[in-house]
Amino acid sequence: MRVLVIGKGGREHAIAQKISESKMLESLWIAPGNPGMSKAGLKCASVEKTPDILAFCKINRVDLVILGPEAAILSDLKEVLEQNDIACLAPSREAGHLEASKYFCKEILQDAGLLTAAFKLANSVSEAESFIAQHDFKNPIVVKADGLAQGKGVVVCENAASAKAAINDLSKAYGFPILVEECLMGRELSAFALCDGEDFVVLGTACDYKRITSDPFSANTGGMGAFSPCDFISKEDDAAIDNIFKKSLKSLKQKGKPFVGFLFAGLMKTDKGLYVLEFNVRLGDPETQALLPRIKSDFLDLSVKAVQGRLQKQKTEFHDFRSVHVVAVSAGYPGNAMDLGHTIEVPAKTADGTRIYFAGVSAKNESLVNTGGRVLGVTALAKTRDEARTLAYQEMRKVQFQGLYFREDIAQ
Ligand code: AMP
Ligand code: GLY
Repeated sequence: MRVLVIGKGGREHAIAQKISESKMLESLWIAPGNPGMSKAGLKCASVEKTPDILAFCKINRVDLVILGPEAAILSDLKEVLEQNDIACLAPSREAGHLEASKYFCKEILQDAGLLTAAFKLANSVSEAESFIAQHDFKNPIVVKADGLAQGKGVVVCENAASAKAAINDLSKAYGFPILVEECLMGRELSAFALCDGEDFVVLGTACDYKRITSDPFSANTGGMGAFSPCDFISKEDDAAIDNIFKKSLKSLKQKGKPFVGFLFAGLMKTDKGLYVLEFNVRLGDPETQALLPRIKSDFLDLSVKAVQGRLQKQKTEFHDFRSVHVVAVSAGYPGNAMDLGHTIEVPAKTADGTRIYFAGVSAKNESLVNTGGRVLGVTALAKTRDEARTLAYQEMRKVQFQGLYFREDIAQ
């Protein structure tokens, strides 16, 4: 098979690396990729716009295109490729609504009879404020924009004043409707599935670290690290995760929006069970870098079966390893004034059980330099999480560039 992966981050590096292990693979490219991926032996294609990607696929007789980032999934790329008989692993625009509208997501969850936070839908400031007036604030309340907000559309509010401010800010930035939601208490985790419209295989669970430091009130980032699997979930929770994917896919299909692609469930484990916070219609970054190295099954085979609607009776096999992924970022991240352009030193050969996935890097005079916030990440695999964490940090300490920063407490 001839495969093209779209994207340029650590997630896409991990996807391409996993695909490259397939016995079914003839050729693989990443578009646009990054020079770190090229150094790691993968082929990058410098095409980014839909017509250029289409032309590349035709010239190179690409059989399957896998979309990584949200922007590619939201674009016209899948439609255009499929009009030209090129298979594309990504959800349709209609199914993508699951992430693009929190209200639609709630409808699917309620329809499927799954646990999710109780909510009310407000179409004006006064309506939203009337819901706040009914709340006693023994627990916080959550105010959410309905549409896509690049991670900035959710505010957990401890009192009426902050809830009113959130209603004001979110409605100004993203309009109505707004959701006012019960605040769930528990531990967060993510679960991932590869779906064919009806059937699915679970790709595993992961926990990520969103804040720049261990202080829960420090700045939000794209993700500073992750580990997989989550070790605080029981066999019953695993069964509940299967049920969440199964029933959501059924409900989506019944609504005429069958879901093909990667489904990412944001979950909260509470005293009353596993609640769904949200769905994303893609793989997570950096969760993917922790998730995929654990997979033993032929990932290309599963991907082909997903686009062909043939995942029924398939199961993912896993290596008997735990994984820990630590992200290195540029000084100044996640602010705007980042310290960029410094030469990156990485070990010529990574230690056994570890690998490096590249993200915000460019090439300069044969070297790699940091040109983005999240620069690279180290994944380590070992029998226990403690061993994997030790190994990941040992390898990370061999990486150098001016201003390099990473969190010291991933997977602790
Ligand atoms: P979402 O985009 O819906 O996943 O929300 C982003 C983050 O807000 C989640 O990862 C949670 O940390 C938090 N959050 C969202 N909804 C709730 C809720 N109902 N209760 C508690 N925390 C929530
Ligand atoms: N790590 C969270 C995300 O990819 O959205």
